[in-house]
Amino acid sequence: MTRIPIILDTDLGIDDAVAIAAALHAPELDLRLITTVAGNVSIDKTTRNALQLMDFWNASVPVARGAATPLVRPLRDAASVHGESGMAGYSFEQTRRTVLNKPAVEAMHECLNASAEPVTLVAIGPLTNIALLLTQYPECKSKISRIVLMGGSAGRGNFTPYAEFNMGVDPEAAARVFESGLQIQMCGLDVTNNAVLTPEYLAALPTHGRSGKMLHGIFSHYRSGSMTTGLRMHDLCAIAALVRPALFEWHSCFVAVETQGRWTSGATVVDIDNKFGQPANAQVALDIDIAGFRDWASQVLALAP
Ligand code: RIB
Ligand code: CA
Repeated sequence: MTRIPIILDTDLGIDDAVAIAAALHAPELDLRLITTVAGNVSIDKTTRNALQLMDFWNASVPVARGAATPLVRPLRDAASVHGESGMAGYSFEQTRRTVLNKPAVEAMHECLNASAEPVTLVAIGPLTNIALLLTQYPECKSKISRIVLMGGSAGRGNFTPYAEFNMGVDPEAAARVFESGLQIQMCGLDVTNNAVLTPEYLAALPTHGRSGKMLHGIFSHYRSGSMTTGLRMHDLCAIAALVRPALFEWHSCFVAVETQGRWTSGATVVDIDNKFGQPANAQVALDIDIAGFRDWASQVLALAP
């Protein structure tokens, strides 16, 4: 099987961690680099979380530290959802692993140039690093296969009434990415809210070995849903979109990111009915096969040792 080369950009919170578990162990993927961005928690914490996870799975994937703040706005984090550490609920070993001695944008640029084939960017946090990459190295677009992202919404938001967190934290970065001309697959909140792991599955996790115990620990501190009603796996949808695209109903359309709205900045305007007459710039997931997602998620997470 030819594996898909990916770079994963993350604001390592709890649902990011489960997406990384899948990205590391899915047989279809070749995870070449993890880059961190401030979002759920500070850049220091998201970067430490990435190093700890690579240690936990004894993975050889390099980690590069990225942007500490959005392009122009102050950071508003989501520690209330992920805990102060961003990955509360499990006592990870103190890591001696270190980040690459270059910033995320440089590491991405080098990784893209070193690849014999175009690389897919998987974005599961604010798009600050990717916007900086496209600004500083516009020529690298030819080395990028597509961007698969969790973010935005064709419905309501969770950061503000109409902005989802990843887009709402850094609307200017998101606008730059959606205006880049790159092929984008967007898994928005209206769909990822339905990507719920059941209480029964969650309760059984401690019996699924060392990774199951760790995931159960951090899930117990995750506040997007609950252990008794089910937990929303927002970021895991980006990995599912890559390896099981048929789990989603895709719609090609124009998407704009609002950056000026007093009450709506960060909103993704998903023009399903082509009211603006603009060319499509994204494939947007409008529905998900929940049972199929759950089957896939349990299979791929069972591969994590
Ligand atoms: O809105 C959900 C997204 O915001 C997820 O990526 C979650 O990790 C947070 O970053
Ligand atoms: Ca995230």
